Amino acid sequence: MQPDLFENKPVDTPEEGASDTLPVLAVPSKNIQDKLEELKKAIRRHDELYYVHNRPEISDAEYDRLFRELQHLEAQYPALITPDSPSQRVGGAPLAQFQKVPHEFPLLSLDSEMDMDRVQAFDQRVRRELEMNEVEYTAEPKYDGLSVELTYEHGAFVRGATRGDGITGEDITVNLRTIRTLPLQLQGGPSLPAHLVVRGEVYMKLEDFHQLNRRLTENGEEVFANPRNAAAGSLRQLDSKITATRPLAITCYEFMSHAPEKPATHWDAVENLEKWGIPIPQYRRRCRTIEELLRFHQDMLEQRETLPFEIDGIVIKVDRYDWQQALGEKSRSPRWAIAFKFPARKEMTKVRQIAVSVGRTGALTPIALLDPVDIGGVTVSRATLHNMDEVARKDIRIGDTVKVERAGDVIPDIVERVVVPGEQRAAAFVAPEQCPVCHSTTIQEGPIVYCTGQTVCQAQLKGSLEHFASKSALNIEGLGKKTVAQLVDKGLIKNLSDLYTLHKDQLLQLEGFADKSATQLLAEIEKGKHVPFPRFLIGLGIRHVGAHIARVLAKQFGSLDSLKKATEEELLQIHDIGPEIAVSVTSFFQESRNLMVLQRMKESGVQVEHETRASGPNAQLLAGKIFVLTGTLKGYSRQEAKQKIEDLGGRVTSNVSKQTDYVVAGKDPGSKLDRATQLGVTILHEEEFSLLSQRGDLKSSK
Ligand code: IVH
Repeated sequence: MQPDLFENKPVDTPEEGASDTLPVLAVPSKNIQDKLEELKKAIRRHDELYYVHNRPEISDAEYDRLFRELQHLEAQYPALITPDSPSQRVGGAPLAQFQKVPHEFPLLSLDSEMDMDRVQAFDQRVRRELEMNEVEYTAEPKYDGLSVELTYEHGAFVRGATRGDGITGEDITVNLRTIRTLPLQLQGGPSLPAHLVVRGEVYMKLEDFHQLNRRLTENGEEVFANPRNAAAGSLRQLDSKITATRPLAITCYEFMSHAPEKPATHWDAVENLEKWGIPIPQYRRRCRTIEELLRFHQDMLEQRETLPFEIDGIVIKVDRYDWQQALGEKSRSPRWAIAFKFPARKEMTKVRQIAVSVGRTGALTPIALLDPVDIGGVTVSRATLHNMDEVARKDIRIGDTVKVERAGDVIPDIVERVVVPGEQRAAAFVAPEQCPVCHSTTIQEGPIVYCTGQTVCQAQLKGSLEHFASKSALNIEGLGKKTVAQLVDKGLIKNLSDLYTLHKDQLLQLEGFADKSATQLLAEIEKGKHVPFPRFLIGLGIRHVGAHIARVLAKQFGSLDSLKKATEEELLQIHDIGPEIAVSVTSFFQESRNLMVLQRMKESGVQVEHETRASGPNAQLLAGKIFVLTGTLKGYSRQEAKQKIEDLGGRVTSNVSKQTDYVVAGKDPGSKLDRATQLGVTILHEEEFSLLSQRGDLKSSK
């Protein structure tokens, strides 16, 4: 790669207004069309020679001349600009925001393992479930970048999206077009699929990353901490012209959907991608045994330091698609693949100070302030010591030399103290007897020391308020860390219910607030007065009640009032609720301070929406049963059918596997029906399904 040349490549667009002065011809002649095609073809070829093969055949000046000619012609005949034209790689007009796009199939993530034993256990499970002595796997490097979904229609790149939450992503098509190694038009003629969705990883090569940072420094701009952040920051640019100047790379590693048919194995599918000109992972290997997989892991680990890009492990995938299907998937990850991660990178440094922070639950977290150290390209100056027990167990004291580990994006961790012979050590660190923020006394519960100040403690209040306003809870836009801190510091908020009595003139006292922003925030708070029950529950920050448990509780109790009355015994009867959660929930609602806050919220107009309650004899009728839907149902949309099943305690997944209990088949069912027949899964037709969902009685429906 010649990095200097890269920056020259995104050629300037023609001067502004140039097209105004050119004659706009209504009907382009055949000659013009041919000329355009010829130019596009030539530029594509030179792009590939340069960016993919590193073997340019023409000079930069020559290339620029071709490119300008193309741009000039396209400016004259804008109707002839196609999305796959190389001119589209220089980015377009800045966007106000990214559009949301639903993924055709969920973009799952992977379970990751660090230990050989766990990978062995994965292989054993796979072989046991498939009833095979030997299973063929494909192993690939795990690229450390950002997952994206690409859609090609009849060979043309039409859409690209970020992973988002796996169900919905953001449309970053224009930005992806700027990646030179991403083909805008697939090669390969007749065998090209009509519809192709692939998944890949956008990343930045190390050399390009360092060069980009040098360029940013020279321009007085902020640098990126690591190649992954640089790739993410570049790809999520609203101004795609900026993205075009960023040296991004891409590799594709999954076939999501493919019409008409898909090859039998992942290996062959990826091979096809390569034939069509899509970049695929280097160094992939077919492995038949656990030994071969471990060998690949070891080989890649050894190569890691010399590779031109960052990898953080390998990915192991069952190769045959029919076997993948048989193994199925969990809610977020497939059961046929696993990430076998590398050990995190470690460096040595010294502890300068031990600070203590207070979280929203009042837990005191000791934090080591370090002599800054570069760990795999990131400067680290703080590391968490988790809790007081950890400090004691690792015996970390101020002045000690320590080994610090950085694993992906996770906060760096102190692995251990390095013993320096003859050193003079400071006294052992002891947990503060008073909260460093509110000076209330602290108490130790298990390994954790808590501040007893609760709402008196501004740190806890700030944490609770931030959590209440966060995306997964009330999602109050404009109520971030900074605003929360000011509201609490100025005494405008003393508990969560004060949020709803804020006035505009109070907000105007805050730094960064003007008339418009204050009105906006008040409107956001107002909007949040109608809140779905599960989100409200998450927002309350009851210990051990995260998103999943909040949903379970909401479904089970339907309203805040009935949850308030729930006894420990009642809670314990619910699948997923253990004693810790039961105690935590009941004690939350016994605490008069919490009840008062809830009452005040109600008085201010907060209405927690009721949840359709899973109740009666049917609530648990389908508990644990797994459904797959295929074809069109007359009486229900997919979403309604799914809702029905979930209301009865069942679960809907997308692939038929041995675990599937029922396949509900509507009109024009897909291959899922064949698969169900093959595996002997019970098939329900619409009438049977209706009976079941109305009466909750499966037997009479058969
Ligand atoms: S396969 C259903 N293969 O690692 C299979 N992922 O959590 C999904 N990644 O989000 C992923 N290199 O962004 C796969 N060769 C590779 C990969 C890879 C990197 C990323 C991907 C995913 C994450 C795993």
